[in-house]
Amino acid sequence: MADRWQNTMEHAVSAARRAGQVVCEALQDDRKVMTKSSSVDLVTQTDQKVEQLIIQSVKEKFPTHRFIGEESVAAGEVCVLTDDPTWIIDPIDGTTNFVHTFPFVAVSIAFSVNKQVEFGVVYSCLEDKMFTARRGRGAFCNGKPLQVSGQEDIKQSVIATEFGSSRDPEAVDKIFTSLKNILCIPVHGVRGAGTAAINMCLVASGCVEAYYEIGMHIWDVAAGSLIVSEAGGVLMDVEGGAVDLMSRRIVAANNGTIAERIVKEIDAFSPPRDDDPPPQK
Ligand code: IPD
Repeated sequence: MADRWQNTMEHAVSAARRAGQVVCEALQDDRKVMTKSSSVDLVTQTDQKVEQLIIQSVKEKFPTHRFIGEESVAAGEVCVLTDDPTWIIDPIDGTTNFVHTFPFVAVSIAFSVNKQVEFGVVYSCLEDKMFTARRGRGAFCNGKPLQVSGQEDIKQSVIATEFGSSRDPEAVDKIFTSLKNILCIPVHGVRGAGTAAINMCLVASGCVEAYYEIGMHIWDVAAGSLIVSEAGGVLMDVEGGAVDLMSRRIVAANNGTIAERIVKEIDAFSPPRDDDPPPQK
């Protein structure tokens, strides 16, 4: 059956590849680092330039589509998901990695219609791995089908997570409590690539059994969430139940048994939502 969004997805893949080339080239140059919500929430001119490149190329081809872009939101645009076709863009997922040349950075592009992600593209540009998923049609890496791990035993598992960019001591305490609980199950190990999008692709590839985080944003995980579910995995809120991409809380796992076991160990909290109105100045 013909796929209504095939052209759109092809555009996303080539936009992600071009964006990834710009990111890789910029890694050779000096990177001017700026900060956003705090001194550890980093942004560079490359993040801003790459987001504009992607948005411009989409606007030329699909002038009625909407956008949620990490750097556009940081510049004051609202972060609202409507039923309209919407591109959810993270130009560099792993900006801290990019700044420090830690070798995992990704361009993440999701496309949502009626608030449902139709396709997701994550380009891990230094590894030259193009992860793609189309709703109902599977997940792929460089064209090869992806399948999550078949592991059911958490004690035989590796779990990915991140510390995020909050340094609020109460939040950090909760993050460490969850980490300790999970480590001491015990699991085989805990890892973090420094990018939510790549962590999710690692789940989809079967390299880790699960990824969880509180504090990431919709643009970090929208594409990865479809890649995980199309590779056979499950998504859950950190307190169980359905995931809400605006809530900044996610568990992405190979199966429900592992996801529910992780949920039991998480000391949950709720950061401000991505779709909260911006604070009054
Ligand atoms: C960040 C990365 C990081 C995660 C943070 C994200 P950015 O995204 O995905 O792994 O821990 O929560 O904000 O800022 O590099 O696009």
